[in-house]
Amino acid sequence: MPPISRNFATITLASLMLTGAFSAIPAQAKSAQRGDTQVTVDASRWEAADPAMDRFITDLMSKMTLEEKIGQMSLLTSDWDSTGPTMREGYQDDIRKGRIGSIFNAFSANYTRELQRMAVEETRLKIPLLFGYDVIHGHRTIFPISLGESASWDLKAIEKAARISATEASAEGIHWTFSPMVDISRDPRWGRVSEGAGEDVYLGSRIAEARVRGYQGDDLGRVDTVLATAKHFAAYGAAQAGRDYHTVDISERTLRDVYLPPFKAAADAGAATFMTAFNEYDGVPASGSRYLLTDVLRHKWGFKGFVVTDYTSINEMVAHGYSRNLKEAGEQAINAGVDMDLQGAVFMENLAQSVAEGKVDMQRVDAAVKTILEMKYRLGLFEDPYRYSDEAREKATVYRADFLEAARDVARKSMVLLKNEGNALPLAANARSIAVIGPLADSKEDMIGSWAAAGDRKTRPVTLLEGMKARAPKGTTVGYAKGASYDFADADKNDGFAEALALAEKSDVIIAAMGEHWNMTGEAASRTSLDLPGNQQALLEALEKTGKPVILVLLSGRPNTIEWADQHIDAILHAWYPGTMGGHAIADVLFGDYNPSGKLPMTFPRNVGQVPIHYDMKNTGRPINPNDPNAKYVSRYLNTPNSPLYPFGYGLSYTSFGYSPVTLDKPRIAPGETLTASVTVTNKGPRDGEEVVQLYVRDLVGSVTRPVKELKGFQKIHLKKGESRTVRFQLSDADLAFTRADMSWGSEPGAFKLWVGPSSAAGVEAEFELTE
Ligand code: NOJ
Repeated sequence: MPPISRNFATITLASLMLTGAFSAIPAQAKSAQRGDTQVTVDASRWEAADPAMDRFITDLMSKMTLEEKIGQMSLLTSDWDSTGPTMREGYQDDIRKGRIGSIFNAFSANYTRELQRMAVEETRLKIPLLFGYDVIHGHRTIFPISLGESASWDLKAIEKAARISATEASAEGIHWTFSPMVDISRDPRWGRVSEGAGEDVYLGSRIAEARVRGYQGDDLGRVDTVLATAKHFAAYGAAQAGRDYHTVDISERTLRDVYLPPFKAAADAGAATFMTAFNEYDGVPASGSRYLLTDVLRHKWGFKGFVVTDYTSINEMVAHGYSRNLKEAGEQAINAGVDMDLQGAVFMENLAQSVAEGKVDMQRVDAAVKTILEMKYRLGLFEDPYRYSDEAREKATVYRADFLEAARDVARKSMVLLKNEGNALPLAANARSIAVIGPLADSKEDMIGSWAAAGDRKTRPVTLLEGMKARAPKGTTVGYAKGASYDFADADKNDGFAEALALAEKSDVIIAAMGEHWNMTGEAASRTSLDLPGNQQALLEALEKTGKPVILVLLSGRPNTIEWADQHIDAILHAWYPGTMGGHAIADVLFGDYNPSGKLPMTFPRNVGQVPIHYDMKNTGRPINPNDPNAKYVSRYLNTPNSPLYPFGYGLSYTSFGYSPVTLDKPRIAPGETLTASVTVTNKGPRDGEEVVQLYVRDLVGSVTRPVKELKGFQKIHLKKGESRTVRFQLSDADLAFTRADMSWGSEPGAFKLWVGPSSAAGVEAEFELTE
């Protein structure tokens, strides 16, 4: 690598050799405020008209050749790392020739400056590069996986995690994250459930907004913000049979009511970019869907950012059987509304010819290039292309102590206590010897889960064993045995059992750290079984036979089928993959320094045969009669109840909460009016704690059938021991809207049920009416 030029200040604007617009560029560089991680200002301000920017970009585009424009529409991976086959070599040469305008998988102040130097010193028009990266749940400091973070139901904490991720990533030269993933996920066989906010439309939408706000802050011109990407547009979570990349076949109504709302929320929060999905919708691959990318996203929602494809997804339109060849695929993609080709090099290789043949309109190319250049401008890159590539800032920012502390805090907030028989947790003071057993007990690499792209898997993560040792009171011993394996191939082995059982026998309490290898969720990680893989179940059963109290700490990225554990194990804590500080956070919960408050963002099935199972299902014409659950000719299984093992919204605490009856301020509302539902929640247990108070409704009769329950609001409250608080929710007809029989969006008059409670399966009930 040639020596890096430090004298970059003089080669930025002055060397662009463009005329007229410089004086009009607003001063965008506002220094990032240390510790200022909470941003609450409307993130969509970048959408406001900016005549100076328009002049600058019009002027720049008037100088660009078609090849240079196509370069701006091309995003290629660097040589560092990739998530699929690297299609092109020699990308540095492409930078110099202006053939690529954006790079992903390149970071660090030093390296991004070197690549940026090639773009702004060696290309004809000196247009700066945009650096993208998968900053999914943390950059260097890794937070819990996105599904785990979502289990906190704590929007401020989630926003703060995104803010910190953006602060670290931007300090390492990154301008753009491919996050948040806002795909509704109702099928735990699909490995990518770990990357999103779970199964619910309302929760998913609020989390989408929080993450966009966190990444983008209130001003894209701030040097600690990154562009967000709402992905994967759309309906990727509906992959048939939970098999990644598989066909999607859902109704237009389900698309609109279930899969689109979190994307709309992200767009309204100001998400600067959207990424297409690998799947098809209604027979058309998402990257070729004019309906999704233009009719819905641009025309209906008024999206003003740019659309990038997923990895080689234009190329894949040939395999889908939608395009005869790559050139045609490229034409279909750009004409559908794609602005940037990620890693496919299809635009690069074919678009000029397509334009020459009149298959693609020059105006469409210009529109795409404009949206991309606008983002570079808003980030301040034309003013100072190196502003994100600053070693001093990088050094002062990554792994900051307050970031690590925040990661520990979010991690403990994300954990869900699924069972706690006889108050097995928190650990009793007389537990003087603790056995920590299992393949995930002392595994650093697993703690940070999948999609922790720049995360350190080797040294930084604190394991459960390390966390327990650090926290255990003086005189308490913490022993360790791996005991079992999570490898599929080890299902019939038992070579570690004897050592684990010997340790268990001489200990007061057993912590079984079991679950999945980190790579068993995320992309290309679908499973047809949700059981504990390898020989973990057999060891768990053997540990239970010792008669010692057993606590299962589940570490995984999806709902697992743990019915046996629910029936036999004293306490179960789902810790997801909790991130860099995971071991400390788990110890905080096990020892009772933190009272668990997480609630499930996905339903846990009893067995995989119940999948897809989610709380907002339809009633059917033959629902089960709860008073006669075994009746024939109703919608049920012969061998398994319909109910899940743990419902959506469920999670226990070390204290207990009581709910008063719910009161409504009026029995009926007209359109435009507001209904207030109030409930008093009391902390009736022995310690302070947090409760997620949830509001659900059911529209009893509609022009089309409606789900049995839908989340419409939640509040996470902290109550001291013995404290009561009245929680109020407001509802109006807008909250009751759905896609009606005629496909219009709106509510319908009629009777509604309403519940306020601690989960989707419990709560106090009331009824109200929406009038004409
Ligand atoms: C493929 C994944 O589907 C997407 O989520 C990711 O952002 C891209 N690869 C880039 O790494």
